[in-house]
Amino acid sequence: MNDNTVLKIKSISKEFSKVKVLNNVSLSLRKGECLGLIGENGAGKSTLIKIINGIYYPSGGNLEIEGKAVDIKDSHTAKSLGISMVPQEFNLIPTLNVFENIFLGNEIKLSNGLLDKIEMRKIANNLLDQLKTNISVEEKISQLSVAEKQMVEVSKALINDSKIIIFDEPTTTLTSHEIEVLFELIRGLKEAGVSLVFVSHKLHEVKEICERVAILRDGNLICVKNVEDVDEQYMAQQMVGREITKIFPQKRDSLVGDRSVLRVEKMNLTRKVIDASIHLKKGEILGLAGLVGAGRTELAECIMGLRHKKSGEIFINEKKVDIPNPRVAINNSLAYISEDRQGRGIHLIFDIPTNTTMISLKKYVKNCLLDKDLIHKKSSEYIDVFNTKAASLKNALKFLSGGNQQKVYLAKCMDTNPEILILDEPTRGIDINAKSEIYQFISELQEKGMSIIVISSELEEIIGLCNRVYVLREGKICGELTGEDINEEEIMYYATGVKVM
Ligand SMILES: Nc1ncnc2c1ncn2[C@@H]1O[C@H](COP(=O)(O)OP(=O)(O)OP(=O)(O)O)[C@@H](O)[C@H]1O
Ligand SMILES: [Mg+2]
Repeated sequence: MNDNTVLKIKSISKEFSKVKVLNNVSLSLRKGECLGLIGENGAGKSTLIKIINGIYYPSGGNLEIEGKAVDIKDSHTAKSLGISMVPQEFNLIPTLNVFENIFLGNEIKLSNGLLDKIEMRKIANNLLDQLKTNISVEEKISQLSVAEKQMVEVSKALINDSKIIIFDEPTTTLTSHEIEVLFELIRGLKEAGVSLVFVSHKLHEVKEICERVAILRDGNLICVKNVEDVDEQYMAQQMVGREITKIFPQKRDSLVGDRSVLRVEKMNLTRKVIDASIHLKKGEILGLAGLVGAGRTELAECIMGLRHKKSGEIFINEKKVDIPNPRVAINNSLAYISEDRQGRGIHLIFDIPTNTTMISLKKYVKNCLLDKDLIHKKSSEYIDVFNTKAASLKNALKFLSGGNQQKVYLAKCMDTNPEILILDEPTRGIDINAKSEIYQFISELQEKGMSIIVISSELEEIIGLCNRVYVLREGKICGELTGEDINEEEIMYYATGVKVM
């Protein structure tokens, strides 16, 4: 045994209603290291770390901390053993403010038993400063962006002085700047002797921040490697069990028609979108690129009637339309995948068919009754199309892995039979293999004549998929790119206004 071992995972197995999700996983975490944990959607990553954090109890095997057997029955026990976790799905109370959430269950009290709000505010402020965010401790969680909520989750893990901190896909919603701040913090924690587990689908991040990487496939530990000995291609190959050669399908510019299906004229939304005019052609995949905060999501939300624009006009098939709410947008054959999956997309307590047909339910009414068989048939078809992993259709979405929830969300939007599809960060939390399947699917939609807008912070997604790209900066459309010009340098030039040499 390595003397540096802080946590030892010994032959851990886990079953959910007789379905085996983890199979005899043995792994150790060393003092002061960051251990990457990677695997496809549904491989068992979150389940494993939830066991370490006492959220799930293993069906077999046990855990040791610093050589002593421990029985982690609940999160409270985990906390008392010095283990904290930043979960994949946020665990915040929207109606409470930031500092109340950070200290939830860990409140500091005065000698008279009352809450020491002054002290809690002070500590929360220091933490947020350390994370270089401008979030106010008094802000209600419901007012925060997804990235800000992520930072509050990170702060929650940090107040405990933990010796083990587990991050489950902490960077999916963060900007590159925020990721750099988080990595700086992780480096500091490592130097202070804290041990970290880092779950991510972004393999370059694992390369950058981890010392070792453990690869899970279908609940089995495939290997543990020193990060310096492996490259991204090797990691992807071990995750999937075969070589992945092609991520993006061939671009098909010839499928793009001349007719404009959506035209936005001089759209304005206070400070967020300024005089934006765009058009989308029939059969086109159009990218909206730009840094996070450039106004891409706000522009999409104005089109979908989720925000009230200050001025501007929308034309669908050259007919002027007024879209005051999403229902009207859907009736106009628009569909939108929001970047905020949990907040705006799916309902965790409902099962797969209910989520899939939630907005298209009218289609399933026959003689004033819901055709449940048809709903189930359609939902199963989507499970096949997206290769969604779930033990049963009846599973509430909270029992699906994060990436598989995203696939159900895609199905929900597709079921409205849109002609115009707006995808905001469509592959967030999706593993590399499933990503290539979704790109293939988008390409097939294009072939069927659908017109698609892709908003993505992953440049390679914009470059690999789009026929044409608008770049936004501070709410304005700064550039329009086609053909060979859709490359990293050009996009970054327009996104930042700085020429990269
Ligand atoms: N509470 C539960 N009840 C039933 N099945 C569950 C439960 N939690 C997880 N599962 C199943 O266990 C499997 C592993 O899920 P897990 O969340 O660990 O995957 P993951 O590796 O974190 O994937 P992702 O990258 O998509 O987040 C999935 O098939 C999931 O549906
Ligand atoms: Mg997960």
